[in-house]
Amino acid sequence: TTVDAAAEDYELGEFDDYMRKEIAEQPEAVRRALRGRLDERFATARLGGLGMDARELRAIRRVKFLGCGSAYYAGQLGAALVEQLARVPSDAEPASEFRYRNPVVESDTLYIAVSQSGETLDTLAAVSELKRKGGNVLGAVNVVGSAIGRECGRGMFLHAGPEVAVASTKALTNMSVSFAMLAVVLGRVRDLSTMDGSRIVNGLRELPDKIDETLAREAEIAEVAARFAAARNMFFIGRVRGWPVAREGAQKLKEISYVHAEAYQASELKHGPLALIDPDMPSVVIVPDDELLAKNVSTIEQIKARGGPVIAVTNAELPDGLADAVLRCPRTEPELDPILLTIPLQLLAYHVAAALGRDIDKPRNLAKSVTVE
Ligand code: G6P
Repeated sequence: TTVDAAAEDYELGEFDDYMRKEIAEQPEAVRRALRGRLDERFATARLGGLGMDARELRAIRRVKFLGCGSAYYAGQLGAALVEQLARVPSDAEPASEFRYRNPVVESDTLYIAVSQSGETLDTLAAVSELKRKGGNVLGAVNVVGSAIGRECGRGMFLHAGPEVAVASTKALTNMSVSFAMLAVVLGRVRDLSTMDGSRIVNGLRELPDKIDETLAREAEIAEVAARFAAARNMFFIGRVRGWPVAREGAQKLKEISYVHAEAYQASELKHGPLALIDPDMPSVVIVPDDELLAKNVSTIEQIKARGGPVIAVTNAELPDGLADAVLRCPRTEPELDPILLTIPLQLLAYHVAAALGRDIDKPRNLAKSVTVE
């Protein structure tokens, strides 16, 4: 019912559907998430809602993100940021698994419950389980006053504004941006240098404009989507920074287009899935402009050698003719690449779904927030 209430006073305007509108709102949504939170002077971020001082932040030995669906993939992206910038071990787990497996709850772990709606029952149940066992849990929710926000009592609001389409776009982007700030905060009370802190703070500040630049390439992306919309199956391939991006890309495509999409780590391809590569199985390969660029180029060559079409999603310069199609976004700081690389995948999924005539905002069998078991 919260979703319906939001939908009523949230006009579509010039857009055909909410997903397209929410994709377009991302630069503004990110600006809102950053407002008043970037601290240039100390090369850090300010997240007052965490309610933790430097000593408490330094005592954290592990960070675990819990969420469902896209919120889980955003958590994976967040875990990578925390490990890279703060060098604190971090991972993400589906909240739905966590609640059922009698988890070991450790007092020096920071748990983060991630949820756009703040109402997802599985995530709420994970929070209750954590609290019963004395876990230190924060919320990362978009809807103020939601059940998960209230149950956690502290954390960071996402400031994405109302999100109506079932497939999460701006909320997911703001989750990633918030986790980048959290990673800087945790890093700056440890070994993250002033130089590196500033590098990320500036990178975050420039992100909204770079999202705009990415969105400006929509026509090219729509054309690629139309070319590949007849595929029944697609692989989404990534490694390290590209891996959560691939998972989220596959999730988006399957949710709204009903095309079977499977994410795989590039390094695991040769251990099974290569057998599926043929001219009818396109692979979307995520290629960040980082130290693994050459490895990703060779992954593309391996797929091409077996007759598989490749769509590269990249902010690097790739050799001419390497991929059958290239979706580009600008360069940012390497740690922030995943946030930007996710944007073309939203548009790819959107335009495949549009080409197939799907009900984009309300995919069959899905609900915006799942408040049942
Ligand atoms: C549902 C939606 C997903 C969403 C997930 C988590 O399953 O279909 O798109 O990512 O819930 O929602 P939340 O509101 O907790 O972020």
